[in-house]
Amino acid sequence: MYRSHTCGELQAQDINKEVTLSGWVQKSRDKGFIIWTDLRDRYGVTQLVFDEQRTPKAVFSEAQSLGREFVIRINGRVIERESKNPNMPTGDIEVLVKDLTILNKAETPPFTIENETDGGEDIRMKYRYLDIRRNPVRNNLVFRHQVAMNVRNYLSKAGFIEVETPYLIKSTPEGARDFVVPSRMNEGQFYALPQSPQTFKQLLMVGGMDKYFQIVKCFRDEDLRADRQPEFTQIDCEMSFVEQEDILNIFEGLTRHLLKEIKDISIAEFPRMTYDEAMKTYGNDKPDIRFDMKFGDLTELAQQKEFKIFKEAELVVGIAVPGAASFTRKEIDKLIDWVKRPQVGALGMVYAKYNEDGSFKSSVDKFYDQEDLKKWAEVTNAKPGDLICVLSGPTQKTRTQLSALRMELAERLNLRNPEEFAPLWVVDFPLLEWDEETERYHAMHHPFTSPKPEDIALLDSDPGKVRANAYDLVLNGNEIGGGSIRIHDKKTQALMFNYLGFIPEEAKAQFGFLMDAFEYGAPPHGGIAFGFDRLVAILGGQETIRDFIAFPKNNNGRDVMIDAPAPIDQEQLNELGLGIREVSKA
Ligand code: AMO
Repeated sequence: MYRSHTCGELQAQDINKEVTLSGWVQKSRDKGFIIWTDLRDRYGVTQLVFDEQRTPKAVFSEAQSLGREFVIRINGRVIERESKNPNMPTGDIEVLVKDLTILNKAETPPFTIENETDGGEDIRMKYRYLDIRRNPVRNNLVFRHQVAMNVRNYLSKAGFIEVETPYLIKSTPEGARDFVVPSRMNEGQFYALPQSPQTFKQLLMVGGMDKYFQIVKCFRDEDLRADRQPEFTQIDCEMSFVEQEDILNIFEGLTRHLLKEIKDISIAEFPRMTYDEAMKTYGNDKPDIRFDMKFGDLTELAQQKEFKIFKEAELVVGIAVPGAASFTRKEIDKLIDWVKRPQVGALGMVYAKYNEDGSFKSSVDKFYDQEDLKKWAEVTNAKPGDLICVLSGPTQKTRTQLSALRMELAERLNLRNPEEFAPLWVVDFPLLEWDEETERYHAMHHPFTSPKPEDIALLDSDPGKVRANAYDLVLNGNEIGGGSIRIHDKKTQALMFNYLGFIPEEAKAQFGFLMDAFEYGAPPHGGIAFGFDRLVAILGGQETIRDFIAFPKNNNGRDVMIDAPAPIDQEQLNELGLGIREVSKA
């Protein structure tokens, strides 16, 4: 027997029990006549005592050789600790060891296996299995499991069936590049790994499954960031005979349930905002609404005076930064430098201090008097003590820049409290998005999204104005889910492909299977997918999803532990019909 108990459960009531424990040596303190060893497993840490007087001689001398991370089994008696540790669940007791077996020795680990480790990110990724022994990483994985169990239970109770869909498929356009897999049996041909199960879940609706969900891996070859991995997990859902309202209600219910179960936070009704409103008010389609700093449009007011930069701008827009009138000149200059960095790209920033005494001091006092600035304060909702920051330029660009500044200031002023949760539905996304590079419209969500019936007439005259039955769920400034009501008839789907610049043969070759299915009685349907890694990270009070994935990739898309991706043998290449050398010879 390896163990009678785990290392996290022995307490005062177990005193005098004979126990067997197995685990890893966290650390050993050898005082010469007595050795204290912390034994660790997934459940906790138990202190062991090897005592020259009371422990058999052979066992005592073997204990002297114990190093960090040795795997051992011990047998002994639970005794009361002399100096108790109230911070540990097992802090009242220790185990006086009678018998010790070293199950496996260990090299000294390349970093300390402690909550606060001395290991940098790279080394911890290379030895991820050691990193997983640390509490913060292990707790994140346990947390992820709890969220997944809650999701499965909730959706299952609500009548959803989990169905697995294939990974070796054909391209599903979600806006990223595909990872492709060569087929040995069909030389020169490739599968694509799914960017999402989008088309399959729609086919399940045609198949009459009615309510589908899947906690599923998706693959996207795109640039990585803190909230993006090349393979990530979705809670993917689809429902038949539903309207947008039905989907929003069910998935608001799921999110509310998770917030209650996992964080014990009750949120009554999630606010909703149209895409247009979000862009106007926050310059962003995933606004963090835990704090204010709403945009105030100053264009009209600012253009009444002769300040050239504002006069010529398409948009003049400002935010009131709470309590920041006290910023020094140096701090403000730093902020101006910050918005001028290439990553933000503003040409400059105008500011006005709204002093506590009600007066204003601005960087454009030459052009705007106290009365003017008072109006700016009204529009930006500034209070005495606030700093009004103003940017100007082309509408879209300026909004994006001010949005970046708003987030940066919120970070600096500690307004992004990770224990506060502010969900938000953003609805009425545009159907199409103009792409400067290819000079054509792209589907903003994906090509299966249905336009709002009342906007269909605009498709010919003003395609950019057509709104879609598409929605995102935003949590604390992160897009955690997105979905839409789908097109479910062949004619509209063909029309959509046409608007997206597909020639009919192309559309047929790529998505003929779906359009064919629509001819055999496709029910009206719609759905949503949550980014599971993002959801878990945010519920866990963080934004880096890597910390909640057992074996994540680094920012170059590499798994540095197994060293992938890697070249493959010439023989394997040949077998796959990818034998470049052979091909060039022929
Ligand atoms: P979408 O592309 O919006 O929709 O993806 C849904 C959610 O998945 C998460 N996500 C990611 N998470 C981590 N790493 C990534 N690279 C990554 N990419 C996306 C986001 C996002 O909101 N088929 C549609 C859903 C539908 O229409 O039902 C889809 O995949 O949180």
